[in-house]
Amino acid sequence: VSGLLAWVDGAVVPLVEARVSVLDQGFRTGEGVFETIRVYAGHPFRLGAHLDRAAAGAERLGFVPPDHAHLRAAVHELVAANAGVVVGDLGLRLTLTGGPLDPDSPFPGRPLGRPTVVATVQPLAIAPGIYARGITAAVVPWARELPEIKAVSYLAASLARARARELGADEALLTAGHGVVLEGAASNVFAVVDGGLVTPPLDAGLLAGVTRGVVLELAAAAGMVVRERLVTVRELCAAAEVFLTASTRELVPLVSIDGEPVGNGAPGPVTQRLLAAYRAEVARERAAATPTS
Ligand SMILES: Cc1ncc(COP(=O)(O)O)c(C=O)c1O
Repeated sequence: VSGLLAWVDGAVVPLVEARVSVLDQGFRTGEGVFETIRVYAGHPFRLGAHLDRAAAGAERLGFVPPDHAHLRAAVHELVAANAGVVVGDLGLRLTLTGGPLDPDSPFPGRPLGRPTVVATVQPLAIAPGIYARGITAAVVPWARELPEIKAVSYLAASLARARARELGADEALLTAGHGVVLEGAASNVFAVVDGGLVTPPLDAGLLAGVTRGVVLELAAAAGMVVRERLVTVRELCAAAEVFLTASTRELVPLVSIDGEPVGNGAPGPVTQRLLAAYRAEVARERAAATPTS
């Protein structure tokens, strides 16, 4: 969408003209963190959880980003700035790096000044029919480096997604060997087994998805049995239902893996119920939110 605006280190500028330095750490070494937040009619859902995760990732990478109040203000300013440009829900990407590196400093480089903060938005691009029909996945035999961090360097995930697309699938499932499933290229994975929910544990090496966290809360509140344990591709195919979670796509039924049907090959009722509960939670938080929260 032409006319979209970006937020770069305090300035709101046209997206197509937004720039960071070639010395930036994110560009030089791929170090930095990002978040993709869904903005529902002006309300960034679970912004606090996204900012917490970004701050934890930045700390792991050794830089201190601006505080939450500063980042919240940036997000709200950008959402407001784009309100007249694009209608409907948005995907908002917040990227934080250690900032420009001193070109005279030895590898891996010493920051010259302050961290870089960039926020961009794009209209949500959700393929029609994914909730009614479900999506497909292909398994790739690798995992992300430092999987607890949503790092700017997304090589393992983006190559996985590209491989899946080449194979005619929508999403890739990253694995830890022996068919053990960790997460999607840009999603977390859940299975419905014996009426309860199963999802891989964080210490297996995967992103602590914000949506994953909300689904775990909602399932517990609904009285479902929830187990965080390792799960194999074979178990996923044998499960009654499998779904993927991500901020932009919420909960999406996964109906086939490597060409094998999951369950009966169609979206199932538990996924539908949890999706409805998720959307109700979004609506509840939107209604409760003040314009600056
Ligand atoms: C590798 C990976 N796992 C999981 C997720 C889902 O995270 P969230 O629910 O916080 O969007 C993402 C989101 O893009 C991701 O990139």
